Amino acid sequence: MAKARNQVQEKLKQVDVVLEIVDARTPEASRNPMMNQIVGQKPRIMVLNKQDLADPEITKQWVAYYKGFGYEAIAIDAQHAKRLNQIPQLAKKLMAAKIAKQKSRGIKNPAIRAMCIGIPNVGKSTILNRLIKKNVAVTGNRPGVTKNQQWLKADETFQLLDTPGILWPKFEDEMIGKKLALTGAIADSVYQEDIVGMYGLQFFRENYTESFRRAYGLNADDLALSDADLMIHLAKKNGFADNYNRMAERIIFDARQGKFGRYTLEKPEAENDANA
Ligand code: G4P
Repeated sequence: MAKARNQVQEKLKQVDVVLEIVDARTPEASRNPMMNQIVGQKPRIMVLNKQDLADPEITKQWVAYYKGFGYEAIAIDAQHAKRLNQIPQLAKKLMAAKIAKQKSRGIKNPAIRAMCIGIPNVGKSTILNRLIKKNVAVTGNRPGVTKNQQWLKADETFQLLDTPGILWPKFEDEMIGKKLALTGAIADSVYQEDIVGMYGLQFFRENYTESFRRAYGLNADDLALSDADLMIHLAKKNGFADNYNRMAERIIFDARQGKFGRYTLEKPEAENDANA
């Protein structure tokens, strides 16, 4: 971990702007806990990717929240190339003073250099490829592997480092682990599906009750059951008899497929300290 962090810090010296990529469904859980120490004062754009899967109202709150810390922030859908073209504009806005200075020294089109940083699976490679409008094999930083870095052009004055910085989420925090597992950000082998499935059941019945009710054809009596009894009921209803693990797996699968609609697992609140 320290090695990955050092590599990212080394690369940071070469860039003007950091694109910190997070999953809009889990903006804080999908951040590296040391990100602020690593990035320091470098101008930063918080990119809330996968906005197509997230709750639009809560995404707006997150964008405002990050702007409150002095970052630029934008919600995008990289897979469908939505709003990506605003990233170079935001970067140029952040670097306006440097651009003006360079122009005053006679540099006609000063280039801004940026790199993507984020935990695995938030969409760094997709963003990079969409921004440069090509498909490059994105390898990321692998400890011990050095390769010549290249600058890829998004446009004449905005360039991106070809290797994104890959850092890790705070795995040891159980709630973060559950959120990342439910959205599919971490491998299926590293979590217990019964725990994550139960978390999904509790979360969706409480926060997106109507979509959850509709998805599983539940009535008011079903919704009055305790969480454990509802899991038992759903397992039977879906033909899994008393195999609750299979029902838990189904809930995880359905959450990832968007069967309960667009959702966001966390809201910006006082306990989410962007400076932590
Ligand atoms: P990474 O470099 O940060 O590890 O992430 P990567 O770009 O590989 O993206 C991880 C997964 O997220 C990919 O799906 C990718 O298609 C998907 N993705 C990226 N951006 C968006 C987005 O804005 N919206 C949605 N809905 N999905 C997005 P995959 O299933 O792993 O691969 P594939 O099915 O695309 O081949």
